[in-house]
Amino acid sequence: MVGKPESDGMYRAAIEALADGIVLLDPEGTVIDCNPGAESILGVSCEAMLGNKFTGIGLDFVQENGAPYPKKRLPHAITLGTGKTCRNVVMGLSRPDSDTTWIRVDSEILSSGGHPFAILVSFSDISLRKRHQEELQHSYSALRELSFRLQHAREVERASVAREIHDELGSVLTSIKFDLSWAVEKLDGKGQFEEIFKALDGAIQSVKKICTDLRPAILDDLGLLAAIEWQLGKFGRKTGIRCKIETRGSEPAVPQDVATGIFRIFQETLTNIARHADAANVRVRFQANEKDILLTVNDDGKGIDPKSSAGSKSLGILGMAERAQALGGALVVHPAKPRGTKVELSIPLERRTSRRAIASSIP
Ligand SMILES: Nc1ncnc2c1ncn2[C@@H]1O[C@H](COP(=O)(O)OP(=O)(O)O)[C@@H](O)[C@H]1O
Ligand SMILES: [Mg+2]
Repeated sequence: MVGKPESDGMYRAAIEALADGIVLLDPEGTVIDCNPGAESILGVSCEAMLGNKFTGIGLDFVQENGAPYPKKRLPHAITLGTGKTCRNVVMGLSRPDSDTTWIRVDSEILSSGGHPFAILVSFSDISLRKRHQEELQHSYSALRELSFRLQHAREVERASVAREIHDELGSVLTSIKFDLSWAVEKLDGKGQFEEIFKALDGAIQSVKKICTDLRPAILDDLGLLAAIEWQLGKFGRKTGIRCKIETRGSEPAVPQDVATGIFRIFQETLTNIARHADAANVRVRFQANEKDILLTVNDDGKGIDPKSSAGSKSLGILGMAERAQALGGALVVHPAKPRGTKVELSIPLERRTSRRAIASSIP
């Protein structure tokens, strides 16, 4: 059986076995003790540390942005200078021959009977966790970029399909109608062609509707505000919900990708109201100037149930927020007063983000 060491020996053994680093400093900042964990994380032997000032053992600390860590702001220096405890300070240990080691540091005063006798600096190696975090962040950014590009490609595709259908199918149908009218003029018993004319008119209307659903021409011809007013009018007629729009400022020149993004977010907002809100009134506010566009949509429905919107399957609002972010703006959805839901969208017009620059380079 393994014998139980004395209390001091037991703590010493525990400290020696710790993977975390521990360094004890006296009130002048001189190293008076350290463990093997500290040696391996810092890459400096205890022998080289003991008896030296902690700041004087040649360690090169950097901040998360890569800039040198100011010596006065190092956790142990703060504890030494002010007596304050520092927790969870993340810093890098830059080494000339290998990658930066990232550590999370705590430092605090140790006291006995109310008398401080040492500063305890403890730290753990978080390099692996930080790398995973960075990789996760990287894949998240890549996914966002992909989603943005897909959305953009989809818009381009929709516009081109709408154009093709309009130009090819629409004009063929119209010309068949004219030719048929001309031929029918020469015949007796026009009545039997009535059905064919009806069908043709129906087909022409369908083509128009498909084209408008794919990409409303009004957005390109008359601009964003006109398209929003048109969409709201259509929504009101279809759902019976009373809709009002208030505009402030005149509409500035809006780049096409911004106009499309705002319009799609607006459409999705109205779809949500029709589907979920059970509202009687919708109030839209469109505020624009040279710098930004603010669009607010208020409904007086039952409001968003936090439980139903917490589900990861709801992608509508997430997609709207992503779209707003991709345009350098933001989307906030919150409860309206006294009831209902308020969707606030703000998009800057001044600063074109790199993504938008990419977007305009996609044919
Ligand atoms: N205007 C609204 N009024 C009430 N509830 C809403 C409204 N908009 C969204 N919601 C709720 O938020 C959820 C998430 O919306 P969304 O992300 O668009 O997903 P989806 O419409 O596909 O369900 C909806 O399922 C609905 O419960
Ligand atoms: Mg939705």
